[in-house]
Amino acid sequence: MTEKNDYLKKVEECVIFLRDRLPSIPSIVIQLGTGLGDLAEQVQASLILSYGDIPNFPASTVSSHQGNLIVGHLHGTPVIILQGRFHCYEGYSSKEVAFPIRVLSLLGVHTLILTNAAGGLNPAIAPGSIMIFRDHLNLLGDNPLRGPNVEAWGPRFPDFSVPYAPALIALAQESAQACKLDKVITGVYACIPGPSLETPAETRWLRACGADAVGMSSIPEIIVARHAGMDVLALSVISNVNDPDQMQPILLEEIIAAAMAVQPQLEHLIVEILRRIHAGNNSTTSLDDNAANSIC
Ligand code: HPA
Repeated sequence: MTEKNDYLKKVEECVIFLRDRLPSIPSIVIQLGTGLGDLAEQVQASLILSYGDIPNFPASTVSSHQGNLIVGHLHGTPVIILQGRFHCYEGYSSKEVAFPIRVLSLLGVHTLILTNAAGGLNPAIAPGSIMIFRDHLNLLGDNPLRGPNVEAWGPRFPDFSVPYAPALIALAQESAQACKLDKVITGVYACIPGPSLETPAETRWLRACGADAVGMSSIPEIIVARHAGMDVLALSVISNVNDPDQMQPILLEEIIAAAMAVQPQLEHLIVEILRRIHAGNNSTTSLDDNAANSIC
């Protein structure tokens, strides 16, 4: 079987499986990253599926990721929650990492909200900040769209001149203000393959490349979502800030603890964003892009 047919078949099997089980298809999917899975507890769930029970879903090998697809309502807004994700450092290709998003896009989900933990690079960013992506650098050395293109899923050469929906960025900024969260900024996220963390020289180079934060996730899902025409909002919790001249050891336990400390603020922010989307109260679509394009 060809690469194209094999992947297509796996996606189609999964689409049929979920279509038969989902009570309805929410338009928003929220993918929760490292140390940030608790939002799922606020969902009034109508269906919870373990990733292991969904045909062709990759299996999570990371203990800090729970691995559930949850369908329900978050404070009244219909959502799908992906509690946990897959990473290239686990051995998956970025196409496999993005498999759930491809499937959900074909089911009709059209907005992707992601969270992750990231290391800060810009010295202006304080640890514990929440960074709204305004752009990214894909340094994975892989792309989920590599290989034969399925025209029905999206174009061969998708445009990425506006990777993150300006209206969603502005909505997130307004929501942060409404929640009185002062450490919410916008910035550029660099995605490295990992699992080794950055050396001082790599940190210096990433800064020089214009990255404000670095992490090992989310970009495969974002590329597939954009290919499928979905709107994307991505939020990083800045767990540590790396200074190439005074590098400190970066420990997973500390990343998780730092992410969990910011989790209540992130949850508050996401709930407010959803409330505004649900109410159709997006008064920001006409906002000047510059307002959404500066750090701090
Ligand atoms: N580097 C890469 N990934 C990360 C970091 C970091 O410093 N912090 C949290 N995720």
